[in-house]
Amino acid sequence: MAGVDNVQSVTEGYSFDGPCLDLGALLTGPDTVAAEAKVRIPLGMVNRHGLVAGATGSGKTKTLQVLAEQLSAAGVPVFLADVKGDLSGIAQPGVGNAKITARARSIGQDWAPAAVPAEYHSLGGRGPGIPIRVTISSFGPLLLSRVLDLNEVQESSLALVFHFADEHGLPLLDLKDLRSVVTYLTGEQGAAELAALGGLSKQTAGVLLRKLIAFADEGAEDFFGEPEFDTRELLRTADDGRGVISVLELSELQTKPTLFATFLMWLLADLYHDLPEVGDLDKPKLVFFFDEAHLLFDGASKAFVDAVTQTVRLIRSKGVGVFFVTQTPKDVAPDVLAQLGNRVQHALRAYTPDDAKALRATVSTFPKSGYDLAELLTSLGIGEAVVTVLSETGAPTPVAWTRLPAPTSTMGPLDPAELDRRVRESPRYARYAEPVDRESAYELLAAKLAPADEATPESRSAPEKRRTERDDPGMVQKVLGSTEVRGFLRSAASTAGREVFRSLFGTARRRR
Ligand SMILES: Nc1ncnc2c1ncn2[C@@H]1O[C@H](COP(=O)(O)OP(=O)(O)OP(=O)(O)O)[C@@H](O)[C@H]1O
Ligand SMILES: [Mg+2]
Repeated sequence: MAGVDNVQSVTEGYSFDGPCLDLGALLTGPDTVAAEAKVRIPLGMVNRHGLVAGATGSGKTKTLQVLAEQLSAAGVPVFLADVKGDLSGIAQPGVGNAKITARARSIGQDWAPAAVPAEYHSLGGRGPGIPIRVTISSFGPLLLSRVLDLNEVQESSLALVFHFADEHGLPLLDLKDLRSVVTYLTGEQGAAELAALGGLSKQTAGVLLRKLIAFADEGAEDFFGEPEFDTRELLRTADDGRGVISVLELSELQTKPTLFATFLMWLLADLYHDLPEVGDLDKPKLVFFFDEAHLLFDGASKAFVDAVTQTVRLIRSKGVGVFFVTQTPKDVAPDVLAQLGNRVQHALRAYTPDDAKALRATVSTFPKSGYDLAELLTSLGIGEAVVTVLSETGAPTPVAWTRLPAPTSTMGPLDPAELDRRVRESPRYARYAEPVDRESAYELLAAKLAPADEATPESRSAPEKRRTERDDPGMVQKVLGSTEVRGFLRSAASTAGREVFRSLFGTARRRR
């Protein structure tokens, strides 16, 4: 494939005043590089989001690694999902070889091994990493509907169950809390409340219950409950000012892709919820790499896709950049794609009619250029990409056939024992390692359903006492089983600090 003569326009189009992320240099032919024509993303434009796309093995993960390394060096914290386990090496300096040296030399990269400060997480302690858990209440009905694969009627029914629990101060911390609320509503004692809720049929409630039980049977209890992960942990910098890279190790959850994709969305929604409005900054507060992004959209409801779209749109002015990583642009919902200002498109295949369609669609998402993009995209080498980003004024830069730099940290997995050592050394390990089962809807409802005849009224409104007595379930049940249980539940809700307010994603949080 012959290069077009765009050395000058690329050199000019990618000359910026402020700090930048380096994407490599312009290729003018399969083996010819114009090393002076640097391709970059202005750091101040990283919150305008991005897309890293390409076929399997085309270089997406290494691009992500290169971007993460540079962001960290610029003092920007990074979150990345390590779906295949081949990113954990980022905490260790890379080892040079002839290929790396040749790549670096060709684009004028000053390659030297370097590590980044990284911290490893896992979902619910599955696989290596500090466990991330979330309470059911925070997760909210929309995300939960997605992981339970509910239809629209079931989705709105689940929302009603959350509404009921929120209203009645029943803390939904784990799956058994939610189950017990549904069970309560479908039982004799909850009949009046079920009727008052309106719109939740006994039959649908039964379906919800069965789905929740099946979900728990798959081991989902591990992911929900306390201590809940505080997403502000992701915004840390190291003592030397470099951004900490939080790596979520997901390789053990490859069989539960919708689950982890939905969890990633919770992290993002929760950050959105928490962060103040800051407008456009010189550099982002956090960059969030959303790998296997197609999982987020495959079969998602309209309500869900709308919420993703809104979150991505609004989080930009909170200083967070989101980069979606996937095979082709058409994996991403059109309204989300339209917001991704920075594009790194690696090689695509064109074997099948579907491939050809995806290729045409991809070509149509690029600004006009002198390239025959359909041909170029199918002939790109590994670690090469077609790039266009947003300039400092927000205009798209010229399309550039680019050879990317090599990562300076280790490409591939970190030694498991070393990973484990790092996890246990972290001060956050002690904070999140062990699940805590606090008194919540399950215990409160169990108590409410228990015989009420031996209630001791004087101990009813003493939350401190209640807490010290929590090891004695018999006592708690007696207290809660009283006729004034309603009022008590309400006060329990406020003492637990659970003034629930739900954001656009239906996620919720205690006031901090
Ligand atoms: N920028 C780069 N520098 C050096 N080597 C690279 C680069 N990009 C890709 N490679 C080489 O190509 C291999 C595949 O790249 P990578 O793992 O990034 O592909 P991928 O697109 O993430 O694939 P998959 O979809 O299977 O995850 C790497 O293991 C590495 O050897
Ligand atoms: Mg990859």
